[in-house]
Amino acid sequence: MRMWGGRFEGISDERMAEFTRSIDFDDVLAIDDIAGSIAHVHGLGRAGLLTPDEVETIVAGLEGLRHDVAAGKLTWDPALEDIHMNLEVALRERIGSLAGKVHTGRSRNDQVATDMRLWLRRTIDGLDRAVVEMERALVGLAVRDGEAILPGMTHIQPAQPVLFAHHLLAYVEMFERDRGRLSDCRRRANVSPLGSGALAGAGYPLDREATAAELGFDGVTANSLDGVSDRDFVVEAMAAIALSMVHLSRLAEEITWWSNPRFGFVRVSDSFSTGSSMMPNKKNPDPAELVRGKSARVIGELTGMLTLLKGLPLAYQKDMQDDKPPLFDAAATLEASLLVMAGMVATLAVNRERMRAAAGEGFTTATAVADALVRRGVAFRAAHHIVGALVAEAERAGVALDALDDATIAATLAGSDDAVAAAVGADAAVAAALREAAALEGAMAACDVTGGTAPRRVAAALAAARTRLGV
Ligand code: ARG
Repeated sequence: MRMWGGRFEGISDERMAEFTRSIDFDDVLAIDDIAGSIAHVHGLGRAGLLTPDEVETIVAGLEGLRHDVAAGKLTWDPALEDIHMNLEVALRERIGSLAGKVHTGRSRNDQVATDMRLWLRRTIDGLDRAVVEMERALVGLAVRDGEAILPGMTHIQPAQPVLFAHHLLAYVEMFERDRGRLSDCRRRANVSPLGSGALAGAGYPLDREATAAELGFDGVTANSLDGVSDRDFVVEAMAAIALSMVHLSRLAEEITWWSNPRFGFVRVSDSFSTGSSMMPNKKNPDPAELVRGKSARVIGELTGMLTLLKGLPLAYQKDMQDDKPPLFDAAATLEASLLVMAGMVATLAVNRERMRAAAGEGFTTATAVADALVRRGVAFRAAHHIVGALVAEAERAGVALDALDDATIAATLAGSDDAVAAAVGADAAVAAALREAAALEGAMAACDVTGGTAPRRVAAALAAARTRLGV
């Protein structure tokens, strides 16, 4: 018997039934659906629509179902279309026809909207824990290899030296924003649509606020049409999830480069690498590559969800049933990606010598040398030009900037058409000062602003992150 079958003659076409059912994927909502039903039944009792005895019997039946779901003892009947009808029939098998009163003043439309919000709430809590684990791995590595120096890049070209810890903390910033976005989404999602009915509002004097409070919602949706058809919270969650995947993907991309022997900055642990079926030499950072790949799928899911909604008139449309596979997949993908990347990052072996050598290649301290001239009164534009000439000299001589000799430095300054620079060049101590500025440590120490890579600034940022994350 179809639960909505009163006006129907004949049976459903098998293709139609198979095409329209959602039980293949909405069974994950079972515990949320039961929680919603228990609160709704309490509300029906308060409204005098169920006697105290009826409430007690139904709630006991629902508690029994909850127990069976947790124990994996319930099986779902595809013929019953979705999780809501499966649970209603399971309740009837347990307590008899009294189960037929549960759906008083409720539609599957406000029911599924409630379930989705409850599901999202607990899922976001789980994702938050996974993001924190990722952050802890980054912070742990920053502590362990706090002295390592990385060639900071722009345009994928050597730019300026930065502490490796500074680079890792940049990702911690991204993940903290991800946490903020998820918690914003959770806050907006945490209102109850129950009582919206099919679309116009329930036809009984239900105390929606009391039912919402019982479910831990902060309030109720203000408009019944919106209550059943709003899926903004799904889009918001998926946007936050997709962006977090993009952050992971950027990190994954860096790890693939860093672990390439040409760079040799890090070694990915064997436990997070795979081999080749043909090339015995191979060791591949597969998890990082897959995170990069899966981020594409999650971005597609977000796009799909936005597209699903854009043409929908009010109120509920069956299209909305298809919000579930992409949302469930996106959340599961992010959680798995965070956990595998946390493991990979925590077990990276850093080669500080290789990193340091690369950090000095490409005259990455040139900006610091120019800044040292500016501190002696030279205009920045003139200093930029002079140091450019010094870089050209060093390149010709095949040496690093901090290995240029006194004579070359003095001659370059003397040859400048900037009067101040020429005067500065006459000071015998200047060459040594410029070489000092050209050393990696000197260059980093000079970036001594809030958020800069000066070691003392990074140490403070790291200490703050450790306090926040309890590591
Ligand atoms: N399985 C449906 C969904 O996920 C439940 C709501 C069905 N409502 C309806 N009027 N057919 O959207």
